[in-house]
Amino acid sequence: MGSCSFLLPTIFLIIFTFSGSVVQILGLGVGINYGQIANNLPSPSRVSVLLRSLNISRVKLYDADPNVLLAFSNAQVEFIIGLGNEYLENMTDPIKAQNWVQQSLQPHIPQTRIACITVGNEVFKDNDTRLYSFLLPAMQTVYKTLVDLGLDKQVIVTSAHSLDILANSFPPSAGSFRPDLAEYIQPLLSFHAQVKSPFLINAYPYFAYKGSPNEVSLDYVLFQPNQGMIDPNTNLNYDNMLYAQVDAVYSAIKAMGHTDIEVRVSETGWPSNGDEDEAGATIENAGLYNGNLLKRIDQKQGTPAKPSVPIDIYVFALFNENLKPGPASERNYGLYYPDGRPVYNIGLQGYLPVPDQMASASKINVFPVFGLLIYVIAWLLLL
Ligand SMILES: *[C@@H]1O[C@H](CO)[C@@H](O)[C@H](O)[C@H]1NC(C)=O
Ligand SMILES: *[C@@H]1O[C@H](CO)[C@@H](O)[C@H](O)[C@H]1NC(C)=O
Ligand SMILES: *[C@@H]1O[C@H](CO)[C@@H](O)[C@H](O)[C@H]1NC(C)=O
Repeated sequence: MGSCSFLLPTIFLIIFTFSGSVVQILGLGVGINYGQIANNLPSPSRVSVLLRSLNISRVKLYDADPNVLLAFSNAQVEFIIGLGNEYLENMTDPIKAQNWVQQSLQPHIPQTRIACITVGNEVFKDNDTRLYSFLLPAMQTVYKTLVDLGLDKQVIVTSAHSLDILANSFPPSAGSFRPDLAEYIQPLLSFHAQVKSPFLINAYPYFAYKGSPNEVSLDYVLFQPNQGMIDPNTNLNYDNMLYAQVDAVYSAIKAMGHTDIEVRVSETGWPSNGDEDEAGATIENAGLYNGNLLKRIDQKQGTPAKPSVPIDIYVFALFNENLKPGPASERNYGLYYPDGRPVYNIGLQGYLPVPDQMASASKINVFPVFGLLIYVIAWLLLL
């Protein structure tokens, strides 16, 4: 048992040094979505070791899980945390918003670096117009609370949208929002411009391929070599669908009068497995999509319409999540199995410590202190 505590740093060092691929991704600015809809995931403290071994320093959570935020205190990791849709109505109330910020966010600052709150996720995906109407007031109220507490400079406020908000996405220069959403999105954009926060989208070329596998080119969606698609209005050539989707959102925002809001990708990914009727959900395709994506992030590429703005991307997701509802693909977006093995080899050979090492390491750190304390007390009592 005791030797484990000495072994741990050694094992860490050896594996860290051995996986030469780590060197390649050291400079990556990639972010990762840390979804937790599963009952078999490693503890957050083990995950923090895994992410450190990968030099991944940007993580997006779907809530403000205190176990995760505590485990990453003093780690060099920057978090986006989420406020779920079920909170939106309450967050329009200044008292409740203040309670949430004071109880769920503030205790972790500054030891855990929380840079952003996504208020709601894909709010416009379902036809819940009551929810639509809470979104902006909730964002404004959370923002006002941060201002009052002096936190607005370090924590930005935004939301994440599905691409269902678009009525038109090709050609990218003709991108536009759904007309029925205009009354919600127009003031939302004014808020983003006013507080200088980015507009986040969850963009999945996989959905387009799955919907029309005979019409959509697999190479085009997987960032493989292909002749690309020309936007007839701009003459720009798109060699992949993700960049076309991002530029379509820029166009939709511009059509509403804004050129001052950055578009970022809060989720993108490809499932490694799926049901029989889910075309393209294979290990090979998922490895190509995410591997090619990482290379482009490493090259700090911008889109054809915004070549000088490297796209900010969070990959979905860190682990396969076995309790996600829906088709099989939903449970197979992870780069890793819950035991820390990569689902496919794209040079992300990370190190996940086994649970016993973490457990015994912490026990051993505590026992000498207790032992010493008891020894000192006994000694004092003897005097
Ligand atoms: C990790 O990546 C950052 C850039 O994101 C780089 O500055 C840093 O040197 C890397 N860390 C190591 C240990 O190489
Ligand atoms: C919203 O506020 C009410 C009243 O304080 C509370 O009972 C409810 O649990 C809150 N909803 C959520 C999702 O926290
Ligand atoms: C939303 O409503 C439209 C028609 O108004 C319908 O076509 C669509 O399927 C609905 N979507 C959901 C998720 O209910």
